[in-house]
Amino acid sequence: MTTVPAYSISTETIAQEQERAGSDLADFDVSNVIQLDEVELPPVGPNDVRMKILAVSAEHNIDHATTADTINIADARGGKMYPGNSATGEVLEVGANVTKFKPGDVVVTHCNGGPDEYGFPTRIWAYDAEDSIGWYAKESVVGDWQLIHAPLDCGLNLWEIAALPLRAPTAYHLWRRAIGIYRIKVPYERRARVNVLGFGGGVSELFLMLAKAEGHDAWFCSGSPERRAALEKLGIEGIDQKAFNRFASRDDVRAFTKECRARTDGELMHVVCDMLRGPVFAAGLACTARQAVNVSAGWQLSQQVDYNSTLMSVKQVTIDHTHYETPEGCAAATELYGKVFKPTIHKEVYAWEDLPRAFQEMHLNTQTGIPIVRVADDMPDSVKGLL
Ligand SMILES: NC(=O)c1ccc[n+]([C@@H]2O[C@H](COP(=O)([O-])OP(=O)(O)OC[C@H]3O[C@@H](n4cnc5c(N)ncnc54)[C@H](OP(=O)(O)O)[C@@H]3O)[C@@H](O)[C@H]2O)c1
Repeated sequence: MTTVPAYSISTETIAQEQERAGSDLADFDVSNVIQLDEVELPPVGPNDVRMKILAVSAEHNIDHATTADTINIADARGGKMYPGNSATGEVLEVGANVTKFKPGDVVVTHCNGGPDEYGFPTRIWAYDAEDSIGWYAKESVVGDWQLIHAPLDCGLNLWEIAALPLRAPTAYHLWRRAIGIYRIKVPYERRARVNVLGFGGGVSELFLMLAKAEGHDAWFCSGSPERRAALEKLGIEGIDQKAFNRFASRDDVRAFTKECRARTDGELMHVVCDMLRGPVFAAGLACTARQAVNVSAGWQLSQQVDYNSTLMSVKQVTIDHTHYETPEGCAAATELYGKVFKPTIHKEVYAWEDLPRAFQEMHLNTQTGIPIVRVADDMPDSVKGLL
């Protein structure tokens, strides 16, 4: 058995921090909950790959896991979990049946933790998939079906590649669902170019890059000037969410709808990527055109939504809920690294020891792009030109 350093989240550290911070989530310090630990790796089975983790991205589900604001997932996992469902790694060893990978290959993970009969995840790896050990660790043993060759010649650096394993397939799935549903209602020959709006963070940014690459007009509604500026360089117009008080009142939503009308020559939005729900949901519905589609794979601000069914029926608006891609869809999304997906990275690449701080800064919403943690000190020669 090999034991490696790995971060964990336990019911004990959650309870201690809840006790310290009280009921106010604003005082909650995520870095007190996610702690450096050790994990025993399973033996390398015939279909397994052992890999050295090079870099990981911080994902928002850790905020849910540490604050236990949706469900107490550490508790559901038996008291402790090893998180991390987005990684870039180097293959160290392969099992007897593995032909797709060899030692030295650089790979990215996907986090589909157990596909249903159509390939969609019933569980997410290192979150609710039973016995899954995450990739915020120095090394890992995974099934070969969970890995995809990293496209090292795609034009992105290693940190940008490391930003994409979870977010790019999510965005890819959201986009193909949203545009597919829209096209059932309004076929291409009736309307080629559509107006696309995305709210918030990294997934929406990638969603808008897909829309823009296919020739549509795209707007990014975010509170971060740095993130808006990065997207404007790609021709995606920014809308300052804070100018509408993050939709705290009906008047803010009305003002936002007016702004969307002005920016789209009165047409409003045909496709909206929400990702946050809560107050964003109402704003995302208010600014929709007839036949529009509203999609989300996130529920950061609320798990519940409320809408006027009559109004949405009359407008023929579809509200769609997605989760994550099939393994095949994840591979397809990886083909678009660098060509379509050019992620915005937070200005600091965090050191391994600073991973808990990366999550606290994500909790405080102070990051200027997708947060990346460098896990390996020594990088393989194949990526040294990408640092
Ligand atoms: N189902 C899946 O497979 C899947 C995959 C990835 C993500 N998700 C979920 O989707 C959500 C977004 O993920 P992400 O990776 O795109 O996000 P991210 O890169 O972590 O960024 C989150 C963004 O949310 C915005 N935000 C934070 N607090 C807000 C508030 N109070 N009001 C409005 N906006 C706020 C911030 O944007 P500004 O401050 O710039 O406005 C921030 O950039 C998360 O809940 C995540 O768990 C689900």
